[in-house]
Amino acid sequence: MPHPILKVVADQGCQSYLVGCPETRRALLVDPKVGRTKTIQDAASKFGLTIERVVDTHTHADHLSAGQTYAAAGLDVVMSRHTTCLRKVLRVGDGDEVRVGSLRLRVLEVPGHTPDSIALEGHGLAFVGDTLFAGSLARTDFRGASAAQLFESVTKRLLTLPDDTVVFAGHDYRDVLFTTIGHERRTNPALKHADAASYARATADVPGAGNAPEVDHMLALNQADDALPELPSAVVAACCAPGPSPANPAMHVTEHTVAELRDSEPARAAAGHWIDVRDPWEFAQWRIPGTRNLPLSELGLHLAEFTRGAEPFVFSCLGGVRSKTAAKTLAFLGVVDRPISLAGGINAWRDAGAPIERS
Ligand SMILES: [Fe+2]
Repeated sequence: MPHPILKVVADQGCQSYLVGCPETRRALLVDPKVGRTKTIQDAASKFGLTIERVVDTHTHADHLSAGQTYAAAGLDVVMSRHTTCLRKVLRVGDGDEVRVGSLRLRVLEVPGHTPDSIALEGHGLAFVGDTLFAGSLARTDFRGASAAQLFESVTKRLLTLPDDTVVFAGHDYRDVLFTTIGHERRTNPALKHADAASYARATADVPGAGNAPEVDHMLALNQADDALPELPSAVVAACCAPGPSPANPAMHVTEHTVAELRDSEPARAAAGHWIDVRDPWEFAQWRIPGTRNLPLSELGLHLAEFTRGAEPFVFSCLGGVRSKTAAKTLAFLGVVDRPISLAGGINAWRDAGAPIERS
């Protein structure tokens, strides 16, 4: 079977995932957030996907889930058998399978951030909710959290997955869209602790300390049986991103202008070193001649195709935002050296009168 179709819908540090079966065009939606249902539906339509099933990886405390909205529309909403939500959900436990079309994703119980946290793995991918993040672990200062339990879940469950498993987390605070099990095993500072007790001591988290009134309000709404109205992003999140992560020099991305890249474009394109990370329908409409399309959300499925130390890869998109995320993510993973992002994207390329290919 071809690889699953993937679309990441990011919003204020939260990540929702559309995971589509390439054969049936049926899709699983992971961790939808209130305020993004139209964006998600638009994305599903453009990929020709029908959302069939929804998973909430845990009872979210810091943002509002749109799970109940989908339940009200008649879709199955999958949650852990340990959830205390009053909403009607399909309860799953360790080893259960979540199926959509030909996709089979295995459920792993991974408590720690919350008692009802689950992850899904299969097809070389892992949707881990709030457990293992790129370079850190999830917060454990909410009521019911346990830093020691989180460490055990990550080390004894998630780290048993193959190193090349692509990890998609519930949050991204560093502009790193995904990571891999192998990269986290090798580099995640939290996983350098000898054991769970050592990690728990280091975090010094006090469960419940993070339950500010607005957090408890969100939690109550997420546990209730009511579909929530679509609300603007600003009011559906109760916590903001942690402070900026320490600068990681390996993630440095150089932005080049059209003028700087224009002359080298044919050679790079010929070498397959110019990657357009827009979605396929955007690329189909218009593109820089010779460039290769690897959508940002699916880059993790193509890591073996990059070669370190070769001529630097150039990444481009519509306006220069997604290409920076792509370059940063691959640099974080050590997959590419000295990545370059086209400033202003294909819009700037067109405005400069550089060649464009259209369908
Ligand atoms: Fe969470």
